[in-house]
Amino acid sequence: MPTNSIDSLLRETRRFAPAEDFSSNSVTPPDIYDRAAEDRVGFWADTARELLHWHSPFTETLDWSNPPFAKWFADGSINVAYNCLDRHVIAGNGDRVALYWEGENGDTARITYAELTGEVKKAANLLTSLGVQQGDRVAIYLPVIPEAVIAMLAVARIGAVHSVVFGGFSSESLRSRIDDASAKLVITADGGWRKGKVFPLKAAVDGALANGTSTVEHVLVVQRGHNDVEWTEGRDLWWHDEIVAMDADHEAQGFEAENPLFILYTSGTTGKPKGILHTSGGYLTQVAFTHKHVFDLHPETDVYWCTADVGWITGHSYVVYGPLANGATQVLYEGTPDTPHQGRWWEIVQKYGVTIFYTAPTAIRSFMKIGRQIPQQFDLSSLRLLGSVGEPINPEAWIWYRDIIGGGETPIVDTWWQTETGAIMISALPGLTTLKPGSAQVPIPGIKIDILGEDGTRVDPPHGGLLVVSEPWPSMLRGIWNDPDRFIETYWSKFSTPEKYKYFAGDGAHVDTDGDIVLLGRVDDVMNVSGHRLSTQEIESALVSHPIVAEAAVVGAEDEATGQAVVAFVIIKSNQQDAQTATEASALLRQHVSEQIGAIARPRQVFIVAELPKTRSGKIMRRLLQDVAEGREIGDTTTLADTSVMQIISDKLK
Ligand code: PRX
Repeated sequence: MPTNSIDSLLRETRRFAPAEDFSSNSVTPPDIYDRAAEDRVGFWADTARELLHWHSPFTETLDWSNPPFAKWFADGSINVAYNCLDRHVIAGNGDRVALYWEGENGDTARITYAELTGEVKKAANLLTSLGVQQGDRVAIYLPVIPEAVIAMLAVARIGAVHSVVFGGFSSESLRSRIDDASAKLVITADGGWRKGKVFPLKAAVDGALANGTSTVEHVLVVQRGHNDVEWTEGRDLWWHDEIVAMDADHEAQGFEAENPLFILYTSGTTGKPKGILHTSGGYLTQVAFTHKHVFDLHPETDVYWCTADVGWITGHSYVVYGPLANGATQVLYEGTPDTPHQGRWWEIVQKYGVTIFYTAPTAIRSFMKIGRQIPQQFDLSSLRLLGSVGEPINPEAWIWYRDIIGGGETPIVDTWWQTETGAIMISALPGLTTLKPGSAQVPIPGIKIDILGEDGTRVDPPHGGLLVVSEPWPSMLRGIWNDPDRFIETYWSKFSTPEKYKYFAGDGAHVDTDGDIVLLGRVDDVMNVSGHRLSTQEIESALVSHPIVAEAAVVGAEDEATGQAVVAFVIIKSNQQDAQTATEASALLRQHVSEQIGAIARPRQVFIVAELPKTRSGKIMRRLLQDVAEGREIGDTTTLADTSVMQIISDKLK
């Protein structure tokens, strides 16, 4: 694994026990693991009752009679938005700040729980007036602005289902997501701010709907970039024009706990992204629980900041639902870490006195590269807890994060989870756990994880194996939208037996002799680039959709900054080979991938080659291409149909 080698783990032997004052003030009771272990399902029932408001109580906690289709709290009813908004106002916390929003261009907003509740009520009325009903799908394609949070909560409030599409995805990616979910409404903006410029969003929506066959009836457009937009009369509506006319009253109704809350598309091993489906009561229980205990949240005093975009699962669970369910005060930032200067993030920490900070290792590594002198220009002394998510954090980055950002004192929680798991599954609890750099450490209370060998037997420390969740959990995905077979096949076929269903996560891991879990990266054709999931096959499909391409193979190559980087090997069609130089073809194809999927998928390199290494049965040997991409000696080529191919490729690339 690129960023978390066993060697570097072994070199780092320091351990960090919780400081006395941190532990004694922690929100987490010392017996929490014992309580959960005694009665796992009962523990989740207590947690659901303790942390959430139920419109009508549940009597059955878990229904696992039809695995792998789980139901949690099924006979209870709940309103997710009410839990994130109204109840805090009713409890007397309406004046507490919910969001400190920072636009990249310097615009700001300070929004209290009372104000946010009011905005969401109006937006819920607006959605209803546009004909959106319980169960309807609404696509949201917005920058990180307050309206993104308002839109998600408004959809949840009326029992509809949102599908948030990250604003960096292309028109083509947006179209396939809108179509797959048959969305009725799209909520977008004219544009958003990124790296000092306005990037257009509405234009991408127009492109996505251009073929005229879409199920979308209306496009609601938030004004943010003030850039020019095309307008389709009758279909397009300005958010600000519509919202002013709406009634500020809206009573939240309870929906059954298994009412779908959202679909979020993520990359799998095949070309087509999967629509991961999450529902209401179980999801909210586990995100609220983990947000409270993993981040030791004191809602009256903490200022929390998670840097994720709302378009990813981290933004769903730890920008929107977890923090708001817990009544937290948080920072929401629209832009990039280095605009207009390289200290922007640290300036924001100083400005708002951020106490809890949650980001991805790739960001930490890029700050390490720039140097400590940038963060050291700011007062970061308010920080008391740091979090990491999205990929393994190597011990060097962990120590730098603690020393330079955390002043050598803050605990760091390395949180392992996935779009599919909905909420954090493996992490230290900072009031209780002695921290070990480079390890995500232990399952959270109420979660059962095993590391298995290919044959399904448990592997003993210190050997590596495959990570499995061996009992259902409240925030588990409930399916893949429109594709129950793929749901079973992808996650539940490798290790399940009729007696025992086990969830296969797709990650390699090992348990050390202390019983701590160390994540070793994906074991399938999914890459992890800057903490974002990309599928090799999806990028290969994008490449071969270009008329000059005959064949393509994509690998994730080790990259110091981004963890992995996309490297493509492409064969150009023979009648196209003279049309442009290899450099031109490579530039053209990098751009093409960016247009097909989005800039995050643009290959770092596209190598134009004459052949690809294949076995006699025609399977591309990506392992060998990875050797080339990472500049290593090429491994064993004896199973290749033509053993000279790798020599030709590597000679040419030299
Ligand atoms: O490989 C694991 C890696 O990210 C994958 C999930 O990606 P995604 O669904 O996009 O969700 C990312 C944010 C939750 C996992 O299969 N991953 C996530 N967190 C960690 C991690 N790998 C190692 N350590 C982590 N803390």
